[in-house]
Amino acid sequence: MVPEAVSRDGAAMTRVVYVNGRYLAYADARVHAEDRGFQFADAVYEVIEVRDGALIDATRHLDRLARSLGEIAMGMPMQRTALGHVLRECVRRNRVSDGTIYLQVSRGARPRDFLFPGPDVRQTVVCIARPASRAAADARAEAGIAVKTMPDPRWERCDIKTVMLLPASLAKEAAKAEGAREAWFVDTKGFVTEGASSNAWIVDEKGRLVTRPLDVDILRGVTRTTLIDVISRLGLELVERPFSVLEAMGAKEAFVTAATNVVTPVVVIDGVRIGGGTPGPVSRRLRAAFHGEAEHSLPRWPGSDHLSLE
Ligand code: PDD
Repeated sequence: MVPEAVSRDGAAMTRVVYVNGRYLAYADARVHAEDRGFQFADAVYEVIEVRDGALIDATRHLDRLARSLGEIAMGMPMQRTALGHVLRECVRRNRVSDGTIYLQVSRGARPRDFLFPGPDVRQTVVCIARPASRAAADARAEAGIAVKTMPDPRWERCDIKTVMLLPASLAKEAAKAEGAREAWFVDTKGFVTEGASSNAWIVDEKGRLVTRPLDVDILRGVTRTTLIDVISRLGLELVERPFSVLEAMGAKEAFVTAATNVVTPVVVIDGVRIGGGTPGPVSRRLRAAFHGEAEHSLPRWPGSDHLSLE
């Protein structure tokens, strides 16, 4: 029996989960024991922010889902409009105003075999909408977070958003043990790749926004992409280049981006305080401007029944 789905702040619950065409009560939401997501991490996923009942940047998330699937020789499990409907239904049935949607697609279930199943095996699709406290996230951003750096132990295709998250889970546990909320992975040359579940940024001495360029070492964060639009709209300068841990420690500001935390300032790296140990003006400004730039594809619920993601 799965415990009740209370959110981290204890406020609200996921009542209904979408599993392969059905909306099931949380306690009954199961996939098969031989699902390839379970046995081989043969699955990809997306986490989409829900804000005021609207899906944030859903188009970009579904674009990335399609790309991740394509990179591991899978197609979309259903048409985008149908997927959009599922996302919206999950938000509506769980009455999520602020929170996230988790969408996972695996290659399906069949007797364990390393080789891919044939076309007769149906992909597994799971969608979980979960409320989260916006006030708690805002308070975290107000205070800023600490990060702990560590060698990046992951594979060579971090651009694919697979559920192979054990390295991230171990890293976050190690970070937590030292009072940090996020882990920053570092490549063999001493450059930060990204956070365990976020992209990493700094603000240099000239006020330029610095983040690692897109390659197979990092995930193409949707928040990162939209933030680049924000940066250009605000007339700020962006430099896509790797930065080292040492440079980050001496930076004016540092922050992380992810659908789960928008722009969240980093004020401590491995115990060293950044920019005086409080969130800086650039990170604050970017966080405040973010949702003005992002796509809000679902009007507030209840109400509209159209969601166009095509
Ligand atoms: N993670 N890098 C990694 C390794 C991530 O797992 C994530 C997101 C990001 C940021 O991507 P986006 O801006 O599209 O959320 C970067 C999600 C939130 C998670 O696993 O919970």
